[in-house]
Amino acid sequence: MDTARIEEVVGDFVHLKKRGTSLIGNCPFHGEKTPSFHVSVTKGIYKCFGCGKGGDSVRFIMDHEKYSYPEALKFLANKYNIEVEETELSPQDAEAQSAKESLYIVSQYASAFFVKQLWETDEGKGIGLSYFKERGFREDILKKFEVGYSPDVWDAMTQSAVNAGHNLEFLEATGLSIKNEKGKIYDRFRGRVMFPIHGFTGRVIGFGGRTLKTDKNVPKYVNSPESEIYHKSNVLYGLFHAKKAIRDLDNCYLAEGYADVLSVHQAGIENVVASSGTSLTVEQIKLIGRFTQNVTILFDGDAAGIKASLRGLDMILEEGLNVKIVSFPDGHDPDSYMHHVGAGAFKTYLEQNRKDFILYKANVLLKDAGDDPIKRAGIIRDIVESIAKIPDPIKASVFIRECSSLLEIEERILLTELNKMRSAKSKKTFESNQRANNNANNNPYSSGPPEPLGPPDNLWDDQAGPGDLQTQTSAEDHQEKEIVRLLLAYGHEFVNWDNIDDMYIGSFIMQNLADVDFENPLCKKIVDYYKSEIDNGRLPTANHFIKNEDREIADLAITLSTSEYALSENWLNKHQIYVKDESMHLKATILGGIFHLKKHKVDKILSNLLKEIKEEKDADNQIILMQRYGVIKGVEREISRFLGSVVVK
Ligand code: UTP
Ligand code: MN
Repeated sequence: MDTARIEEVVGDFVHLKKRGTSLIGNCPFHGEKTPSFHVSVTKGIYKCFGCGKGGDSVRFIMDHEKYSYPEALKFLANKYNIEVEETELSPQDAEAQSAKESLYIVSQYASAFFVKQLWETDEGKGIGLSYFKERGFREDILKKFEVGYSPDVWDAMTQSAVNAGHNLEFLEATGLSIKNEKGKIYDRFRGRVMFPIHGFTGRVIGFGGRTLKTDKNVPKYVNSPESEIYHKSNVLYGLFHAKKAIRDLDNCYLAEGYADVLSVHQAGIENVVASSGTSLTVEQIKLIGRFTQNVTILFDGDAAGIKASLRGLDMILEEGLNVKIVSFPDGHDPDSYMHHVGAGAFKTYLEQNRKDFILYKANVLLKDAGDDPIKRAGIIRDIVESIAKIPDPIKASVFIRECSSLLEIEERILLTELNKMRSAKSKKTFESNQRANNNANNNPYSSGPPEPLGPPDNLWDDQAGPGDLQTQTSAEDHQEKEIVRLLLAYGHEFVNWDNIDDMYIGSFIMQNLADVDFENPLCKKIVDYYKSEIDNGRLPTANHFIKNEDREIADLAITLSTSEYALSENWLNKHQIYVKDESMHLKATILGGIFHLKKHKVDKILSNLLKEIKEEKDADNQIILMQRYGVIKGVEREISRFLGSVVVK
């Protein structure tokens, strides 16, 4: 890490200019014309204020080159001529690896065989190629995706491969060749147009073969089985050809079939992949998430089908991705619609008909329910359930607001429902953890159900005088929770104010509260953990606390992460603003949080001193105490004046 200097590593990919204490350039992760990509040489990190990406040298290589952690380390080691010692392969490992390699090789052989059949044989041209032509596919698209044709012969491919010296064992292991009970070998794919499936690095790992017969008894598609090199659940058809465009355009279109991917490409839209028949898996979503946070689903026509697939999409929300939907008229799928209206109109259609998933879902379900109040109530729960899956509370709050007007339901009611679902979810996680731990002594219910935070309207309440311990304690509790809320909501953003810069808000808050003791035991736990992570050069994520195995911590984190809804509601009524206002006045919000807490701590010291002074009998001691009181009162006045000047009320 010392060797891989951030400015050198980033400098290989980004033109950096010096500005102040940092270097800046145009962000390589999103298109921009004015630079908002900062590199801090002293901290060894980069951060883009435009798209939010940030990290150290290794992170940069992982993000930029789409490498895994070990791949990024190897890349950097290579750049700096650092030798990476790898454990030597055992003979078994070496054999397994070369066996795997052999599977790639026979797959590549088969793919080339099918391509040759399509373009160079009478059968291929007459049946396969003319089929594609009839459907309107251009030659360059067919070549790009290396589609092919498997002759309608019992074992043409197998024979050809064996004659070329390939081992039957490997042909069988990929599923390309099948041995029947009598020991006879035959081809899995016969008389079909062939779509090779490429892995992440572009190697062929499997095939889908479409029949050209209309016979209902013949399966439309035959697919390669799972193998050492083909794991269906973490493969997306077309990803290899789409990944660059997905990253450049910061969006991924998700279709259903091979034909859809080809057609959308043909319309000049290259950021498209397909789940290929299997229902979408978490691995596939994570795969997309390596390139973009934005997914646009291209839905196949009919309403019933759409309704059935809506639930499955919550999974994408859960991974933190933004989901949009495009549906097509008259039972069209992307492929048929593209050929129906032509490339230009198709492109425009996609651009003009993207709808946000949650609002789309709300609309579809509402239409279905009509005026039936019971059905409508069910929909509300259904929608809020989707929103509850969104890990980013700010995004969730936007949806709550929008759905509130769409469903004609008060925001407050939706929020209550949301809070309930979130704590139910964390309770469930907790209980299953408990079961896993089989910890009989620890009663998960001893602390009662989690209390969602009410509207903290006395958050900025300074009215508590030094003598009023009751009010003071609860106000202090609020102040401490406010700090935790700010850490969770903004800890990862950058301080970029006047003379302080290049620092995460999380670090900034911790630095400013280094001398403050937290009274609330949960806040203390969270803050202590936060502090120790920062001391070790790591920045904890809100998710770490939200998904914490300590149920109380998770509950508090969830409540605080969602409490801006309560705030927003409160402020919305009073001032018609808030969340927007808060992030706009982030500096005031953060400094306000820090110094209100400090003021409470100082007030407490003052009230304790006052008590001591009253109880002190010795006159000299009393004078010493009063002097101390004077000094601290001075500090308190400073803080108050500071608060008056920075905090916009
Ligand atoms: P579709 O039936 O929509 O096929 O199935 P398609 O790709 O649009 O093909 P055309 O337009 O009829 O030529 C979507 C996907 O589901 C998988 C395939 O991956 C297909 O691309 N599928 C479908 C199968 O695996 N087996 C089947 O029998 C049918
Ligand atoms: Mn189709």
